[in-house]
Amino acid sequence: RTIYLQDYAPFGWQVQSAHLTFRLAPEATRVVSRLHFAPNPGAPAQDFFLHGEELTLIRASIDGEEITPEVTPEGLRCEVPSGPFLFEAEVEIAPAKNTALEGLYMSNGMYCTQCEAEGFRKITYYPDRPDVMAPFEVRIESDLPVLLSNGDKVEIGEGFAEWHDPWPKPSYLFALVAGELVNHAGQFTTRGGRDVELNVWVRPGDEHKCPFAMESLKTSMRWDEDVYGREYDLDIFNIVAVDDFNMGAMENKGLNIFNSSAVLASPDTSTDADFERIEAIIAHEYFHNWTGNRITCRDWFQLCLKEGLTVFRDQSFTADLRSAPVKRISDVLMLRARQFPEDQGPLAHPVRPESFQEINNFYTATVYEKGAEVIGMLKRLVGDEDYFKALDLYFERHDGDAATIEDWLAVFEDATGRDLSQFKRWYSQAGTPRLRYEESFADGTYTLTFHQHTPPTPGQEEKAPQVIPVAVGLLGPNGDEVVETRVLEVTEAEQSFSFEGLSAQPVPSVLRGFSAPVVLENDIPRETRLFLLAHDTDPFNRWEASRSLARESLMASVTEGAEPDGAWLDALGQVLSETGLEPAFRALMLGVPAQAELARALHEKGVTPDPEAIWTASERLAQTMAARWEGMLPALAEEAKVEADYVPDAEQSGKRALGSAVLALQTRLDGGAAALAAFDGATNMTQQLAALSCLVRAGRDKQALEAFHAQWKNDKLVMNKWFGLQIALAGPDVAVERTEALVKHPQFDASNPNRFRAVLGALAGNHAGFHRADGHGYRLLADHLIDLDSRNPQTAARMAVAFQTWTRYDEGRQALMKAELERIAAKPGLSRDMSEMVSRMLG
Ligand code: ARG
Ligand code: ZN
Repeated sequence: RTIYLQDYAPFGWQVQSAHLTFRLAPEATRVVSRLHFAPNPGAPAQDFFLHGEELTLIRASIDGEEITPEVTPEGLRCEVPSGPFLFEAEVEIAPAKNTALEGLYMSNGMYCTQCEAEGFRKITYYPDRPDVMAPFEVRIESDLPVLLSNGDKVEIGEGFAEWHDPWPKPSYLFALVAGELVNHAGQFTTRGGRDVELNVWVRPGDEHKCPFAMESLKTSMRWDEDVYGREYDLDIFNIVAVDDFNMGAMENKGLNIFNSSAVLASPDTSTDADFERIEAIIAHEYFHNWTGNRITCRDWFQLCLKEGLTVFRDQSFTADLRSAPVKRISDVLMLRARQFPEDQGPLAHPVRPESFQEINNFYTATVYEKGAEVIGMLKRLVGDEDYFKALDLYFERHDGDAATIEDWLAVFEDATGRDLSQFKRWYSQAGTPRLRYEESFADGTYTLTFHQHTPPTPGQEEKAPQVIPVAVGLLGPNGDEVVETRVLEVTEAEQSFSFEGLSAQPVPSVLRGFSAPVVLENDIPRETRLFLLAHDTDPFNRWEASRSLARESLMASVTEGAEPDGAWLDALGQVLSETGLEPAFRALMLGVPAQAELARALHEKGVTPDPEAIWTASERLAQTMAARWEGMLPALAEEAKVEADYVPDAEQSGKRALGSAVLALQTRLDGGAAALAAFDGATNMTQQLAALSCLVRAGRDKQALEAFHAQWKNDKLVMNKWFGLQIALAGPDVAVERTEALVKHPQFDASNPNRFRAVLGALAGNHAGFHRADGHGYRLLADHLIDLDSRNPQTAARMAVAFQTWTRYDEGRQALMKAELERIAAKPGLSRDMSEMVSRMLG
């Protein structure tokens, strides 16, 4: 089955109200539905068909008359009256047997749901599509103490609870939770004066890990009021933590359900990075209340309408709360690590895809992160004021709608008078545009001429020019900024821009703040990069200058055995000792390109990447950095010290990040002595894990790993770190063996997505280990994907992307990876999720 965007047609009926009763039982839950349908005047004639999968139909009726519908594996079809009618059904489902974690399932004895995108059809018969919206009334019958659903509480009694969600919503936003849970309560008063009860629900014992999520929620609610003018619209907002969850979290109306890793936080068990991620995910799901729930998507092709915008909003939130430049650099790192490989490989698809077999395969970095970049470009092009004018119009015009990208762009066109027809290509053209510029200077006029092109992607041979906002500043020969940042709008394949009245030829700082998700192809001379590293006023480009010097130095090491670039290391050393720069920024400056990034860069240059050579060059660079900067490490370590009590804010986290980076260099010099001391003296998880990482890298981890296990064996989230770290940071010679041993560990549990990802994801992320020449890494991952696919296709298919770069490597590795993909493809009963992924990768 392939579904096409162009085939969209509205559903023939509206659901005027939905009433559901759940009689919960692990093996035999009964779901009784009462749905009031009325013909949808705008829709084409069609059969009455309701989605439904893996349901046992007990009975069905229309207007009180029993019916015998035609039931297929996809749903139910029947004759219906021409006017409004009441459809009732009773079905039986088995949440305890639901290992796919989609629909109603059980996690540690607790009932929970995940309905996005198409999980509701595993709960009852329903038009399970986002453009069908209805108010829901839900009655839950169970002896469990806590029974939750969307909206406001109507009545809670002995063995039952009733909930009413007055806001019409699509079925993918439905949620139900039942279990032995405890709440961490809070309160928020909206700007308009509504008192909102807030709760974070967790298993008994996890209460102390809730306060941070609660504070993050309140901060998010305030931020959305202050920045976007959006207020919360119910009297209660519940968040529930669940251990078994395929994704990060889910924005169900009034009842957000979270992977416990995205909500539970404490200084002892969570790193600074965990805190920042949790804060961002809480914000993300909360922000969906307007961008996703009040305004939803017409169909799943429009997924980026809610996800791109909501990611952009959560990124802005973090930038506001913490450091904007540091956040921007982190986001670009992530975009390049996760989205660029997608755009540049067999899985390339537009931000708004035009067809799919399984929508779960399109919750991708392209839809989410590139989708957010597209919003960022739009904001840069129209300016902040017009951006918020357009957003106000969007909320006013489309509140209550299931909208499209066309609706979204029309709002910007109407609010700003701009023609966005060319800009719209960002939604339809896959692939990363390549940008190159030439310079000329004569009579005080400096001219930049840009060339753009986008390489072909599967199914898209020809690409038209994009609208690329290029933020540019000019520096004078002595390093002063002579022209401040301005945004050049590149719209043609070739286009020039001039700057007049300059007394000398300037040095351009191009694509400041990474103003567009493109690859800048220029071979900028090394001297120019060194100059930008020393003088650029744009923090992103300063970082970028160093990063590109690092990349080039490493590539020269890989291809020619060259020594690490001393001039770059000295210039970077200078920057590192600038005490005026925030520690978090300097910690980022200390980062070097990941091995997978080098593989991509080499491939782009037409060189077949050799994972072992890349690993060797990376190790050598780290060793050289440590030796070269030995003298300044103590001062940096001193600066990184935090005397105050632990708080996970930007300032302290930045210092700890710098401290961890320094410790990693120190370990290269002392073989682990400082790291051992740091491990023993750690007072929070950030320090403990940083020290443990150093010890793993240094191959001196045996005792520390044992001690860590003894301390944390009963904490699942911390144990995920323990599992993952010792594989992710292991040398290429031992990564596969360690994985083989850890999948046999009594605490390995393939049915828990977090644990599965911690172990197999770590292997896939260990570049040289995974790409071991004998193919054992490939085989091990494929074995586990095949096994998981029969129980949890969604998580299995998502992890199969580890193979998406297979055509980059040498013939031997290509053949080995291809063979594994073919072995997966040949598995009888392969899921739709996995078969789509594998066939796209095989091309
Ligand atoms: N809408 C959720 C979020 O981004 C993601 C849920 C995706 N679930 C899925 N099964 N594909 O916040
Ligand atoms: Zn989202």
